[in-house]
Amino acid sequence: MKKINIALLGLGTVGSGVVQILSENYEQIKEKLRADITISKVLVSDTTKPRKIDTSKIQLTDNIEDIYNDKEIDVYIEVMGGIDKTKEILLHALNHKIHVITANKDLLAEHLEELEEAAHLNSVSLKYEASIAGGIPVVNALNYGLNANGIGKFMGIFNGTSNFILSKMTHENLSYEEALKIATELGYAESDPSADVDGIDAARKVTVMSYLAFNQFKLLKDCVYTGIRDVTRTHIEIAKAFDYRIKLIGKGEVQNSEVSLSVAPMCIPVHHQLSHVENEYNAIYIDGNAVGDTMYYGKGAGSLATGSAVISDLLNVIELMGTNLHNLPLHLEVEQLSVQQSEQ
Ligand code: NDP
Ligand code: HSE
Repeated sequence: MKKINIALLGLGTVGSGVVQILSENYEQIKEKLRADITISKVLVSDTTKPRKIDTSKIQLTDNIEDIYNDKEIDVYIEVMGGIDKTKEILLHALNHKIHVITANKDLLAEHLEELEEAAHLNSVSLKYEASIAGGIPVVNALNYGLNANGIGKFMGIFNGTSNFILSKMTHENLSYEEALKIATELGYAESDPSADVDGIDAARKVTVMSYLAFNQFKLLKDCVYTGIRDVTRTHIEIAKAFDYRIKLIGKGEVQNSEVSLSVAPMCIPVHHQLSHVENEYNAIYIDGNAVGDTMYYGKGAGSLATGSAVISDLLNVIELMGTNLHNLPLHLEVEQLSVQQSEQ
């Protein structure tokens, strides 16, 4: 039986979900993968803080050196957020041939290319299913299920918090502030919720989608975005009167190798499926040139939904350990193949 040791960076909303799923589904996972998974160390900022989950069997630390010095660790799961310091930690891991799983779209929207390159050079996995649309396996769909296709465009609802706010304003007459407060209490909102309501979080996800869908690295600044902060109840009532719903829609399209990315509130007619996506749910359409339109729907935020995506990455990484196949999306391998062929 394989022994897999994990360093979990972060024990907030998502980190707690990861621990809960691993503990509740421990036997099932162990049997399926023939792997015994241990969370060896957990990085937090305050080791004395009361926790919602039982931490009696968990070794908490606020010092990253404790994790760097543990040579038994196979995988880092990063669910702490932040950009600069977090990038340094994840590059350290990849350069020491440790697999990395992250939910951190803030980081990926700025440094995905560098992280992918480090993973590729070190022949280790970099996985980030949870960074787009919480629990919905949209990264897996793009990397595996749709990899026979050229992707022309995608569109959908990428932010759970703003969709939650719009739903509550539309159907329960809650104010914007009341709805945001509940979304924050439920763990859907970012540590700085202006990222959610100003469209930045959705734009970051759309930016990461650009690489997965179109094989083009883009940065947050390449996406034109507006959020829902200025959407009022009057806007919502007018839309309703004409049988529309206001939704925050992210889009990506490629034409003649030019990628355009955007996020904006839009009026969606009630006969369109997206108008019925409510609360923290997300829904994303991806158009493949062979399969046509496909749609992915589910919880876009929250502890267990996001934890589910993180653990799915972990199980994929464990399955690939010992093979040479975990260095990244198929298109990179295809590119290499064609180079080799042309050299022959
Ligand atoms: P939380 O704020 O709930 O948790 C963050 C955790 O990281 C806390 O345990 C905190 O420690 C720890 N932490 C933060 N900064 C540091 C640091 N500098 N050093 C050590 N520990 C640190 O965040 P979430 O769980 O909501 O989100 C985590 C990540 O997942 C973010 O990147 C977020 O964007 C992403 N994400 C979140 C989703 C959600 O639904 N919430 C969904 C998809 C992705 P302490 O507990 O001591 O404060
Ligand atoms: N704050 C994000 C959202 C979390 O509301 O969609 C999931 O990425």
